[in-house]
Amino acid sequence: MPKHPLKGSRVLVTGATAGIGAATAEAFCAAGAGHVFVVGRREPRLRDLAARWADAHAAHVTPVVLDVGDRQAVERLAEQHPEVFDVDVLVNNAGLARGTEPVQGADLDDWDEMVRTNVNGLLYVTRAALPRLVRRRGHVVNLGSVAGRWVYPGGAVYCATKHAVRALSEGIRLDVQGTGVRVTNIEPGLVETEFSEVRFHGDTARADAVYADTTPLTAEDVAEAIVWSCAGPGHVNVQEMVLYPTDQASVRDVVRR
Ligand SMILES: NC(=O)c1ccc[n+]([C@@H]2O[C@H](COP(=O)([O-])OP(=O)(O)OC[C@H]3O[C@@H](n4cnc5c(N)ncnc54)[C@H](OP(=O)(O)O)[C@@H]3O)[C@@H](O)[C@H]2O)c1
Repeated sequence: MPKHPLKGSRVLVTGATAGIGAATAEAFCAAGAGHVFVVGRREPRLRDLAARWADAHAAHVTPVVLDVGDRQAVERLAEQHPEVFDVDVLVNNAGLARGTEPVQGADLDDWDEMVRTNVNGLLYVTRAALPRLVRRRGHVVNLGSVAGRWVYPGGAVYCATKHAVRALSEGIRLDVQGTGVRVTNIEPGLVETEFSEVRFHGDTARADAVYADTTPLTAEDVAEAIVWSCAGPGHVNVQEMVLYPTDQASVRDVVRR
């Protein structure tokens, strides 16, 4: 069994321009990954971060501008740059929530964007990478959520997409059984990132209130859990990991001081 399975490994992280994805990409660089492909839509930011991580960790980091929910774009990339998907670890992190309106008043565009990114995007990228992951006995890490286990008011569709991520993690694990591929579903509670700003369409005051007077998880906390789940020996598969901040006891119970 290799002692440091991450050293020299090839890693693809989607949604790496911010939050958990950015922290995870950097954590893999710091852990000695050989080549980290980082995906996002905001090009200048992605290029800046990739250059910074490469410098800081003497790592090989390649920025890949891609909308994971654009099926044609994912297929084109897989055809023209198959090396992007030829990895040992795929972290399906790109995702978002939009709105907290009740189902009877919600915006259909918000629903479409969540399903397109959180479900379709994960599927397109996984389909492109999985045959190569099988050849490499690789690892798929999906960013689920506590919203993939429990539902809260105003979160019906976001929670449904994360329930889908949980089902897909289980389904992929069943399909690749016997190949040596590991599949992990990481399910965090409240993490302070750009998530709430995106959810509230740029309303920063509303977003800040989500994290006010409590101690949420940091993106680095989640990145550490992801890297840990990948660093164990190949016969150990961390199937699921629920990570709540200590101040959060359930999707609806957060202590505010
Ligand atoms: N924050 C939380 O409390 C929390 C809790 C549980 C689970 N999660 C999950 O963790 C994951 C990361 O969220 P986060 O909190 O780190 O949010 P974030 O700070 O908003 O980061 C989301 C990342 O996803 C990227 N992204 C969004 N849509 C994309 C698309 N169509 N194609 C490519 N990249 C896309 C964004 O980059 P671009 O805009 O540059 O494309 C950004 O880099 C999500 O799946 C989220 O559901 C978050």
